[in-house]
Amino acid sequence: MTLLNRTFAALVAVSTLLSGCLAQDPLPTTYKDPKTGISFDTWNVPGSSGTAGLTFGMALPSTALEDDATEFIGYLHCAAKNATTARGWCGISLGGSMVDSPLFIAYPDRGRVKTSLRFTSGYTMPGVYTGNATVTQISSAVNATGFSLTFHCQDCLHWSQNGTTGSVSTSGSMLDFGYAQSIEPPVNPSCPDGIRLARHDSQGTWTALLEDAASESYDKWRALANHTVPSNCTSTRGRNSSVPSPSRLFGSRLFG
Ligand code: HEM
Repeated sequence: MTLLNRTFAALVAVSTLLSGCLAQDPLPTTYKDPKTGISFDTWNVPGSSGTAGLTFGMALPSTALEDDATEFIGYLHCAAKNATTARGWCGISLGGSMVDSPLFIAYPDRGRVKTSLRFTSGYTMPGVYTGNATVTQISSAVNATGFSLTFHCQDCLHWSQNGTTGSVSTSGSMLDFGYAQSIEPPVNPSCPDGIRLARHDSQGTWTALLEDAASESYDKWRALANHTVPSNCTSTRGRNSSVPSPSRLFGSRLFG
């Protein structure tokens, strides 16, 4: 990105901030994951009275700031105020709004982090995304103060669902994201395609400036993503009433 473009992008972002639409800083903080060495541009999202906020990060292919990328490596840390609310979920809208954008949802389930890609044309429980996208995990950690996940998201930056198509432009160095966070655990958590969610306790959008997200190491890092958490979709019965013992609730995994 040229200096002129970058200055313009920063001015746009700042003027949007001043208009009161956003609470988040568009400028990223670099986070280097100690387990894998993956370096992310990250943005912090504040919580509300119930939620404790989240951090979302992105690493992109080396050419992403010149040619629009369709995939990324993501980092999500979903924080919780206590062990009970730590069973809730976090979501990221990859297109910046709840409707007509891919929604990436993650939640802890018995020491693992489960994910589900969703899509909706209205402000109701989003259905399963039926387009061509794949999420593979690199590492995850679950404890009493939240969970974190590093993952690869193939074909997540362009989308097609029932005739609605869209994409983001990483070459513009500025992306719009949305976030949602809930302290209520999903019903039927063992089956990501079959979860049911209560409406989130906090939500919003932010504009993200890409600074150091594109990396020559991207292909090496992407090769670490080789794990899909198994689903158990044989029963649609909710399991919220049975809380596993703490030793089964928490866990840390590096799959690569
Ligand atoms: C039962 C499920 C859900 C219901 C009933 C619901 C409902 C709503 C409603 C009514 C709003 C507008 C809030 C306002 O303007 O004050 C909203 C916003 C939002 N929701 Fe959801 N939601 C659900 C699930 C999700 C999920 C799974 C995500 C995943 C990322 C999500 C992401 C967002 C985002 C980013 C916004 C703010 C941006 C926008 O208004 O488009 N929601 N939701």
